[in-house]
Amino acid sequence: MFDLNGKTALVTGAGQNVGAGVARTLASQGARVLVNDIVARRADEVAEAIAAAGHSAEALPFDVTDGEAVREAIADRPIDILVNNAGNAGAGEMAVKPFAETEPEEWIGPLAVNLGGVLNCTHAVLPGMIERGWGRVIAVVSGAGTVGVNIGVAAYSAGKGGAAGLLRSVALEVAQTGVTVNSIALGLMSNTGDTGVTDNLARAIPTRRLGTPRRRRRPVRLLGLRGGLLDDRPDHPPRRRLHHQLRPNGTGFQRPSLWRWR
Ligand SMILES: NC(=O)c1ccc[n+]([C@@H]2O[C@H](COP(=O)([O-])OP(=O)(O)OC[C@H]3O[C@@H](n4cnc5c(N)ncnc54)[C@H](O)[C@@H]3O)[C@@H](O)[C@H]2O)c1
Repeated sequence: MFDLNGKTALVTGAGQNVGAGVARTLASQGARVLVNDIVARRADEVAEAIAAAGHSAEALPFDVTDGEAVREAIADRPIDILVNNAGNAGAGEMAVKPFAETEPEEWIGPLAVNLGGVLNCTHAVLPGMIERGWGRVIAVVSGAGTVGVNIGVAAYSAGKGGAAGLLRSVALEVAQTGVTVNSIALGLMSNTGDTGVTDNLARAIPTRRLGTPRRRRRPVRLLGLRGGLLDDRPDHPPRRRLHHQLRPNGTGFQRPSLWRWR
């Protein structure tokens, strides 16, 4: 894994599941972790558990869709690593139905958290990272936003696809500054709730099973492994699962499955 001593990491939506796992992993590698969640109790519990394990964490509850709240929360806290994880895939707050049956007001929530939250948090931390000449911005996106899924979550897909597109362009803008910007597309996790839907989807997955808390840690490890998203060294890039990655000369992206560091 990777030494993150001296780094401060903000993980949004870290009050449970994937975000909590990311927060724990970063803390165990030495980072001071700011545990964000819109539900303060969740953020507190995760931060307390990390601290009880002997690592450094602070609960920092705010709503990522509220740009002013984001700026206020991090105003005096230089962030080295931002993991934009807050989203509503597993939260059960989305009305799951075919797009044609949705009303425009139902699109607002999924877009606000999955795209707006990434806009707000990335925008708030980026100037400081550029000024200090080092930073890592990561977004947890979804196959729903890259290849699409037929489970009635089109607005969510739009939010995730928008976040991935946003970060591709931001990555190019900051390529010369010491800041890297990436996204990781997760597959479907077993905490999504509706087993009727997820069982159907699992049939299309080569392994025929959904992600579990144990397997969730795998993409998280990409954050810290040698050559992973947090690594400075450009000689051992991860070759799989990354959504996009800058070429060393900053000219653009290739899909990771085809991509080799040259
Ligand atoms: N669960 C899946 O199958 C799946 C698949 C692909 C991608 N993802 C993505 O992975 C990420 C984590 O997924 P998960 O299953 O752990 O989600 P989850 O719903 O279990 O946890 C998300 C956390 O984010 C918090 N949150 C929601 N809105 C927020 C806001 N406005 N501000 C701050 N915090 C907020 C929630 O309170 C919750 O604690 C999400 O971005 C999700 O979209 C999940």
